[in-house]
Amino acid sequence: MVNKKRLRCHGLPERLVAFRRTHRIPASRLARIAGMSPQAVSQIELGKVTPGVDTVERIANAAGMDAAFLAYGAPSHTAAATVLIPPGFNPLALVADLNALLSGSTGVVDDVYKYLDPAGAFEWAAMLKQSEFSALVASVPLADLVQTLAADMKGHPSDIIALGCGTGDTEVRLVSRLLGKRVSDFRLVLLDISNVLLVIAVQHATECLKRSHSVPCVAVLGDFRRLTDYNHLFAPDSPRRRVFTMFGYTFANLDNEVQFLRRSLSWASEGDLLLLDLPEVATTNLEPTEIRRKDPGFAQRRGEDWVSGIYSFLTVPIRRNLLGIETCKVYTELDLTSCVVPGSYAVVNRVTIRLKGGEEKRFSVGYSKRYDREKLAATMSDEGWVLRETFSYGTSFFLALFERKRVR
Ligand SMILES: C[S@@+](CC[C@H](N)C(=O)[O-])C[C@H]1O[C@@H](n2cnc3c(N)ncnc32)[C@H](O)[C@@H]1O
Repeated sequence: MVNKKRLRCHGLPERLVAFRRTHRIPASRLARIAGMSPQAVSQIELGKVTPGVDTVERIANAAGMDAAFLAYGAPSHTAAATVLIPPGFNPLALVADLNALLSGSTGVVDDVYKYLDPAGAFEWAAMLKQSEFSALVASVPLADLVQTLAADMKGHPSDIIALGCGTGDTEVRLVSRLLGKRVSDFRLVLLDISNVLLVIAVQHATECLKRSHSVPCVAVLGDFRRLTDYNHLFAPDSPRRRVFTMFGYTFANLDNEVQFLRRSLSWASEGDLLLLDLPEVATTNLEPTEIRRKDPGFAQRRGEDWVSGIYSFLTVPIRRNLLGIETCKVYTELDLTSCVVPGSYAVVNRVTIRLKGGEEKRFSVGYSKRYDREKLAATMSDEGWVLRETFSYGTSFFLALFERKRVR
């Protein structure tokens, strides 16, 4: 006689019950979808009956789980994410807009173009490996954040919606830490405009999540400024808390953060969370000389590698789309007039290009704001997001966790 404990299917009842509980699937519903009697499902869950391969497959299909995982506790292949391309997302139209802009002599090159271009995505990924920058990213205080998040998420099914996930390094580290705290009842939604970076993020996430079959991963290739058009993708079938994240200072790159909150996140529900990763003002005294003296973007406190990596990355859309460039010079300016959040200022990178025929062009290619925590909290509160906690890191960065308050 074969010792049942040594069979690879050992633990099947426990895997089925755990999956059903995590995904809130009543046994009666599972039985109905699988075309079985509730008693038959119950016998399997109690370990009184070991199902045959056809029944395992039927139950797995009905529950939406991997059949090999249900049977043996191991996936049949590396788990893959579902990829969604929202209606109306048209990368070709974006490129046409860029070409039209560059044919003129001046303008603002939107942030998305650096990442849309595969060469830009490559340079961004390379920058993340640069020692000074990677040390900064590694110091993001995820342990402290997870302490707070875990308390909120336990017992509440949630969706972590990573806006502008890039390669997903920080986002996946956050997920691993949550799993380490035994928070597992959530889905991970990775959203980015760059197909190259989204592929890397999905590979990274599925590798990390393959041991945790309770965390489904969905990838959305799209523009987070049009999130309202996509919100049906995240429409909860049961009340789920949404945790929006914007790691990597992405919020600070937006032209108008207040409009972004109103246009893209207005559909968030009471209790949803928004996590922003932000640069802090170098001085609350918004005096230009003082800012230039203290802000690392001006004060040349960053290493040569960091600066040359950033300049190369910032100029990708120009270098890849303008023919006949003779010289391309990058310089940094202070912008105190375009910031909508009181107390903030922007560090702007511009380029001057001379073409071989002698023509000159000037474009703005980088835009990053710095925030005063208290004034940002006041603006966010006016927009319906209450500051829960901040977590400092590096010399001038912080995470800020906001909660959606009652929307009238
Ligand atoms: C500064 S990177 C941060 C990446 C990642 N979150 C991290 O912490 O490394 C900004 C990311 O946002 C994405 N992004 C920028 N604008 C976007 C938009 N309008 N819609 C969707 N993704 C966008 C870029 O493709 C890029 O991956």
